[in-house]
Amino acid sequence: MFDAIARVYDPMNRVLTAGLDGRWRRRAAEAVVRSGDRVLDACCGTGDLAVADERAGGTVTGLDFSERMLERARRKSASIEWVQGDALALPFPDGSFDAVTVGFGVRNVVDLPRGLAELRRVLKPGGRLGVLDITTPRGILRPFYRVWFDRLVPLLGKALPGGSAYTYLPASVRRFPSAPELADLIRAAGFDQVDYRLFAGGIVALHTGMAA
Ligand SMILES: C[S@@+](CC[C@H](N)C(=O)[O-])C[C@H]1O[C@@H](n2cnc3c(N)ncnc32)[C@H](O)[C@@H]1O
Repeated sequence: MFDAIARVYDPMNRVLTAGLDGRWRRRAAEAVVRSGDRVLDACCGTGDLAVADERAGGTVTGLDFSERMLERARRKSASIEWVQGDALALPFPDGSFDAVTVGFGVRNVVDLPRGLAELRRVLKPGGRLGVLDITTPRGILRPFYRVWFDRLVPLLGKALPGGSAYTYLPASVRRFPSAPELADLIRAAGFDQVDYRLFAGGIVALHTGMAA
């Protein structure tokens, strides 16, 4: 599916977030990456968060299982190491990284507790995790959000070449844990100091934690 949407992924991101996704990625990178860190961006897709991690001072490895997404990522930075691999069985020894980021990726990982445990495994003790993803807002924005994700996003996807896979997005958001539930799952995977902040009126959450 991600191979199929690779071509439209970046323009869809810009349109769906009204151009705000760049700012969220920068804030995620700045929250967890320190200058000189070895950083993994898991589920890196077309590489925008990996590039933000590099700008924040990291030496970055981006990993994704979709070759087509990685093709796009490779064009954005020659100094990032781009690796094709599975986030559920990361091809790195224990304690390889100082920081790990995941942008709009954990929602798609089929076994979330196992995926989070893998992220913990490849972090050094004290290493930092940043998880940026869509979440379900409460209160006044909720009905607008339902119309946006359940009706407009699939319609927009169908209008773009290769974008029909965007019909997956509403379902993937609906089955994803709420921000407090995701914080609990991150804690259960072996992270301390777990916290989250919400962006865009609660539509996007940035979870952070420290490897115990
Ligand atoms: C919605 S995209 C996010 C891309 C990018 N991180 C961003 O911020 O735009 C989700 C990505 O997760 C990747 N993905 C999903 N499950 C994966 C897994 N188990 N291992 C590696 N990549 C995975 C997909 O191939 C896809 O590129």
